[in-house]
Amino acid sequence: MQDPKRYTITAALPYANGPIHIGHLAGCYLPADIYVRYLRLKGKDVQFMCGSDEHGVAITMKARKEGITPQQVVDRYHGIMKKALNDFGISFDHYSRTSSDVHKETASEFFRTLYEKGVFDTRETEQYFDPEANQFLADRYIMGTCPVCKHEDAYGDQCENCGSSLNPTDLIDPRSTLSGASPILKKTTNWFLPLDKLAPKIREFIDQHSDWKSNVYGQCKSWLDAGDGLQPRSMTRDLDWGVPVPVEGGEGKVLYVWFDAPIGYISATKEHLGDDWEKWWKSEDTRLIHFIGKDNIVFHCIIFPAILMEHGEYILPDNVPANEFLNLEGKKISTSRNWAVWLHEYLEDFTGKQDVLRYALSASMPETKDNDFTWGEFQTRNNSELVAVFGNFVNRVMVLNQKYYDGVLPEAGEWSEADLNAIQEVKESIAKLESSIEKFRFRDALQGLMGIARAGNKYLADEEPWKTQKTDPERTKTVMHLATQITTALAVAAEPFLPFTSEKMRGFLNLSDDINWQSIEGGLELLKAGHELGKSELLFEKIEDEQVQGQLKKLEETANAAEVDNGVQLEPAKEEATFDDFMKMDLRAATILEAEKVKKADKLLKLKVDTGLDVRTVVSGIAEHFSPEEVIGKQVCLLANLAPRKIRGVESQGMILMAEDAEGKLVFVRPEQAIENGMTIR
Ligand code: MF3
Ligand code: ZN
Repeated sequence: MQDPKRYTITAALPYANGPIHIGHLAGCYLPADIYVRYLRLKGKDVQFMCGSDEHGVAITMKARKEGITPQQVVDRYHGIMKKALNDFGISFDHYSRTSSDVHKETASEFFRTLYEKGVFDTRETEQYFDPEANQFLADRYIMGTCPVCKHEDAYGDQCENCGSSLNPTDLIDPRSTLSGASPILKKTTNWFLPLDKLAPKIREFIDQHSDWKSNVYGQCKSWLDAGDGLQPRSMTRDLDWGVPVPVEGGEGKVLYVWFDAPIGYISATKEHLGDDWEKWWKSEDTRLIHFIGKDNIVFHCIIFPAILMEHGEYILPDNVPANEFLNLEGKKISTSRNWAVWLHEYLEDFTGKQDVLRYALSASMPETKDNDFTWGEFQTRNNSELVAVFGNFVNRVMVLNQKYYDGVLPEAGEWSEADLNAIQEVKESIAKLESSIEKFRFRDALQGLMGIARAGNKYLADEEPWKTQKTDPERTKTVMHLATQITTALAVAAEPFLPFTSEKMRGFLNLSDDINWQSIEGGLELLKAGHELGKSELLFEKIEDEQVQGQLKKLEETANAAEVDNGVQLEPAKEEATFDDFMKMDLRAATILEAEKVKKADKLLKLKVDTGLDVRTVVSGIAEHFSPEEVIGKQVCLLANLAPRKIRGVESQGMILMAEDAEGKLVFVRPEQAIENGMTIR
C-alpha cells in the first residue's frame, strides 16, 4: 500500500478483571503508543483506540471468587486500568468499555448482519449443564480428572498440570465448580462461524501479508495448515453475562466474547468521533494496525478479519505486530501468584519515573521471543544509559549555555571535521530510529534514539568546551551551538519513547510546537542563534542498590503470601468489609440433633440443628468427610440468617462453618467449650 491518508491503531482491550502490570505494558500498550506518537510527530492523521474488555468468563470467574457481581468487577477495574495506562502516558484518543450502549448496539448490528446474510451455521450440540445451578457451564466452570495425566483438578478446556488442551467431555468424573454437582449433557443451539468454509478467503488474506512479523505470520500459517484445518467456532454462548444474542432463539444466550471484544475497537471510534467514524474503518486509504500479545494472534489475524470480510463493508488489518511474553526475574508473570510489577505500585515507589520504566521495557521488549525483565537490568539501564549518557549530555549542554551565554544560543562558525562527523552520526541515528519504528522494531529504534545522545555526549567529551572556553571562546560557541541543536533533535526524537522527558526538554530548550519530526529530518539547524533557552533541571537520577533490593524483596514476599511453599494456593485477600458488614451476619452456636445422607448426592448431609431459637434443617456438603453418626451431637457455628436455598429439593436454612486444610479435608469451626445454643458469635 502507498502512503495511507490516515491510520487506525488499536491496542488489545484488556480484561477488566485486575490491574495492569508490566507484561501488559511491554506486550502491546507501549509499542502501540510509541508507534502512534511517532506517527503524530510526523503529522499523520491517527486514531488510537482501546478500552476495557468487560465480558467473558474471565470476568464472571473473578466475580465468583470475590463474591460480587460481574458488573461490580468491571466497574472497579475499568477505572483503575484507565488511570494506570494514562499515568504511563499511553495516549489513546479514546479508552472505552464493552459494557457501553454504543458497543452493545454495534456488536448486535454485526451479529444481525452476518445472521441475515446467512453466514452462520446453526448447530445443535450437547453442552454440559449444571442441574443445580440451572445453567450451562463454560469450559472453565467444569473440573474433573485429566484423561492424560489423571490430575484431579483439570479444567474443561485445559489441564494445568500436564498442559493438555481438553474438551469438557474429555474429563473423567466432571463436576461443576458452581455447585459441585455432576453436570449433565443438554442440547442447545448456537451459531457457528464456518471457518472451514471461509478458509480459502482467509488464506488469501494471510498470503498477502508475508511481510508480517515472522512470529505472527508463522502462527497464522500453522493454524491454516493444521491437520484438520480451521474448524467452525461458535459465536454465541449459553451464558448470562455479555451482549444478548439479538436474533430469534437467542434468548438466554450472549455473544462469544471474542466476537464482541474486537468490535469494541469500532464502537470506541464511534463513541469518540460520532458520525465521522466511518472513514476510519471503511475507507481503503485508511491503514488499520492491531497491537496485541501473542495469545491474541488467531483472534486478530483469522477470526476478526473473517467477521469483517463477511460483514462486507470494512477494511482488514494491514498489520498485526504481536509481541511475545515478558517474564519477570526468570519466571512467568502471574496474577494469581502475584508475580508481577503492578503499574500503580511502581508509581508509588518510583514517583515521576514513568519514563524510566518505559525505557527499560522498550529496551527489553519481547519482540521476537519471550524476554525477561529484571530489576538489576532496570537499574543498569537507568544508571548507565539514562543518567550517564542521555541525562549527562543534556545537563552539560544546558548548564554550559547558562554559564557562558546566560542561556542565549551563541552563533556558530565554520563546521570542523569533528562537527561534520557529529552531524553525520546524529542523522544516521535518526534514520535508524525511523526505519526501525516503521518495521515495528522498537528495540532497534530505541538504539537509534540513544545513538543521538551518544553522538552528542561523545562530541562534548572530544571537544571539551569547558577547556576551550579559556583558550578559544569562538570555537566554544560553535561547539555549544551544535551541541544545543543535537539536544533539540534528541528532545523531538525522544517523544515516542520518553514523552515526559521530551516535554521537560522542550521546556528547557524553549521549543515552539512547530518543531517536529520534519524539522529534525530536514537537518540540524533547528534553533537560531540568539534563541533564548529556558531553565533546566536534572532529567534522571541514579537508582541505588537498596531500591533494587527492596523491589526484589517485595516481589518475593508478596508472591509468598499468595502461594505458600508447598504449592498450596491460598485464595486472594478479600475486599475490605466494614464492621456493619460483619454485624449483618447472624452467627450462633447450634447443635446438630439429627443427620442423614441426601439420596443421589454423595456430598450432602441433611441435618436438623438446634439453634436455640428453633430447630431447623440445614443441608451441608460434608458427607464425603463425615458420617451421619460422627456429627450428631456436635456443637457448631451456624450462619443463621443466610437466605434459605433449595439444595437437591431440600430447603436449607443456614450454613455450618467449616475450614479446609491443604489436602482439602474439612474440619469443623466450633466453640472450644460447649455453650448455650443460640449464643451469638462475633
Ligand atoms: N481481553 C483480551 C485479552 O486480554 C484481549 C481482547 S482484544 C480484542 O487477552 F480485540 F478482543 F479486543
Ligand atoms: Zn493432565
